Amino acid sequence: MEVEQRVCNMKIIEITILLNIFLISNYGGLQISAQNTWKSFSGDKIIEHKVDSVLKLMTLDEKVGQMTQFSCNWDVTGPVMKDSYELYLKKGLVGSILNAYTVDGVHKLQEMALKNSRLKIPVLFGYDVIHGYRTIFPIPLAESCSWNLELMKESASIASKEATADGIHWTFAPMVDISRDPRWGRVMEGAGEDTYLGSLIAKARIQGFQGGSDWNSLSNPNTLLACCKHFAAYGAVEGGRDYNSAELSLNTLLEYYLPPYEAAKDAGVATFMAAFNEIGGVPCTSSKWLMTDFLRNQWDFKGFVVSDYSGINELVYHGVAKDEKTAGDLSANAGIDMDMSGSVYCKYLKNSIEEGNVSIEKINNSVRRILEMKFLLGLFNDPYRSLNDKSQKEKTMTPEFLEVARKTAQQSVVLLKNSNNFFPISKDKSITVALIGPLVKDINNQIGAWSARGNTDKCISLYDGLIKKYKNTQVKLLYAEGCNLTGNDKSGFDKAMEIGSKADIILVAMGEPSNYSGESTSRSNIQIPGVQTDLLKELKKLNKPIGLVLSNGRPLDITWEDDNLDAILEGWYLGTMSGYALADIISGDCNPSGRLTMSFPRTVGQIPVYYNHKSTGRPLPAGKSTARYSSCYTDISNTPLYNFGYGLSYTTFAISNLKLDKIIMTNGDKIKVQMDVVNNGNYDGETVVQLYICDLVGSVTRPVKELKGFEKVVLKVGEKKQVNFEISESLLAFYGLDLKKKAEAGDFVLWVGFNSADDNNKAEFTLK
Ligand code: NOJ
Repeated sequence: MEVEQRVCNMKIIEITILLNIFLISNYGGLQISAQNTWKSFSGDKIIEHKVDSVLKLMTLDEKVGQMTQFSCNWDVTGPVMKDSYELYLKKGLVGSILNAYTVDGVHKLQEMALKNSRLKIPVLFGYDVIHGYRTIFPIPLAESCSWNLELMKESASIASKEATADGIHWTFAPMVDISRDPRWGRVMEGAGEDTYLGSLIAKARIQGFQGGSDWNSLSNPNTLLACCKHFAAYGAVEGGRDYNSAELSLNTLLEYYLPPYEAAKDAGVATFMAAFNEIGGVPCTSSKWLMTDFLRNQWDFKGFVVSDYSGINELVYHGVAKDEKTAGDLSANAGIDMDMSGSVYCKYLKNSIEEGNVSIEKINNSVRRILEMKFLLGLFNDPYRSLNDKSQKEKTMTPEFLEVARKTAQQSVVLLKNSNNFFPISKDKSITVALIGPLVKDINNQIGAWSARGNTDKCISLYDGLIKKYKNTQVKLLYAEGCNLTGNDKSGFDKAMEIGSKADIILVAMGEPSNYSGESTSRSNIQIPGVQTDLLKELKKLNKPIGLVLSNGRPLDITWEDDNLDAILEGWYLGTMSGYALADIISGDCNPSGRLTMSFPRTVGQIPVYYNHKSTGRPLPAGKSTARYSSCYTDISNTPLYNFGYGLSYTTFAISNLKLDKIIMTNGDKIKVQMDVVNNGNYDGETVVQLYICDLVGSVTRPVKELKGFEKVVLKVGEKKQVNFEISESLLAFYGLDLKKKAEAGDFVLWVGFNSADDNNKAEFTLK
């Protein structure tokens, strides 16, 4: 009876909305004001008319309401709004809700808004869907090591399917912040240190979330609005300390940090999020220069911009606003369309408009942008969107999704060291392996720090993966935990030593707890925490081969481990299928193909260390690791422990016959670069052929090399393939002395190789 009543009520609501929309679309559309300078992103005139029609009906309070996002709380019944927020919701004064999910929970809150509010404008539900929703994929930093753009697009698309089935419309991903500082715990959420690769990954992930670059795809109920964050240069926070200021030159900002955001805009990202940090004395949240001059005017971004959580309130602490009201004025005038959780707009913006501090045109444009997204998502036609699609709800963690998760995890693993062929531990061997370490049986950390509704119980541990893999083989597995991830307790060492002494080889699973990376997790010491390395030192006394499987959310200082262990497999946090993927690699059923997207420093004192650095006026003489009066350290080499693009395989590859079809580039022609790549080792495998270029002389200094192309190549033993790249003038463009982006005539060097330090295959060309 109750259910029937609800269905009946819903029908009435739906009919009311439809009627409302019908009236709006057919009559209100004629009332667009002449001074309207707003243009919809989609360029869809019908939507533009509908948006303006709704806007015409809105009071100032309702407009400010659309610019307001509240975060919900949770109790046993699901997501709940605190009383005052509920009141706002019922009055139609909330544009978006953060952190609410589940079919019933979202339905309940949407219904609350629609039933009670005057205009029945649907609410937008947003959530951090960072690397999967139910099926958890590798953390973004890990996934970027796959260099597999199609796979990244697919994982984002699966995340969208699962999240929309649970009522979510909007994800706060991808984070496209370039970072050169592994102390910053948020590097786990990004794509590493490189601008070129980071831009391509931004595009792939956005297309995966949104279903394409064309905003019409958003009408598909399986798609999420993506959010490009954190605009801008959040990855440059000083000392890697979260929420800190970013100190960087205009050249560095333009050349290295901004391009991935621009690529995101070009890929059609629907929303942007302002960064917490300041740049040059101006917090991004109040930066008209960033939010309006760049984003709107120069880049022509037509979506909407949300603050990062209490970013507006924080302007008071930054010291650019004397109170929250002024903070709201600054943000609205800078171009922040929606206030995430700060309750500043909803408290003060109306007064500010009435006092003339913020113009009504600004407010109208912000509301239009938000409404446009709601129209594009189809929420005005069906405010319950995917919640009505019963079949979609069953489409979570399907065998196909899990298979993609396993494949992505396999390709994210990076083999860092492999002396004496420690790996693979073949199923054909008759061998006893001691499995030691706090992460052998772990399922709690493997889904990483931003794991949405990922269920740790569904996660496959390394132990389970290996037990299954080596079942009915001659490989015997022993186990001891040895120690915890953190803390000083060494009571498990004896058991570990006992197990280790009975084995032929020792496989250790160690690393950081997953909550050591993600938001607010900066570290000054980036070594493996607790007594884990002490345990390794003890095990080393057994004189047996030791291999380490690492789980961590940032590049670590593993110099001791590199010096003392036989093999190191970088496993990051690989998500739901972690244990299976690792067992595939460890057993050799799958050959590792991941390549680092962020350099591993030798010690924290080397940070920032990244491959595309400048030459300086006193570069180190070739072949030297230190030299007086050169730019270097006296106690350590300048190079990282493991460089960008680096990763081993169970096989070996070689490049030969590097050819350029011309060495002089004129009148906008392109140079074709061609080479042969062969698998000359003993396993079938996959590698990433990388193209790097150096512009030898510029009006401003240029990096020693920059990634400008790559291709993943699958090769069977003995197989050879031709790989081709094309160099265009635009690929050589940079921001010169005049701050204009263009290529400058002169000489260039290019390298093709398997990592950023591989300079075996080199050629030169000239741009006339
Ligand atoms: C703060 C984080 O900086 C941001 O990335 C995230 O999307 C929001 N909180 C919402 O959870």
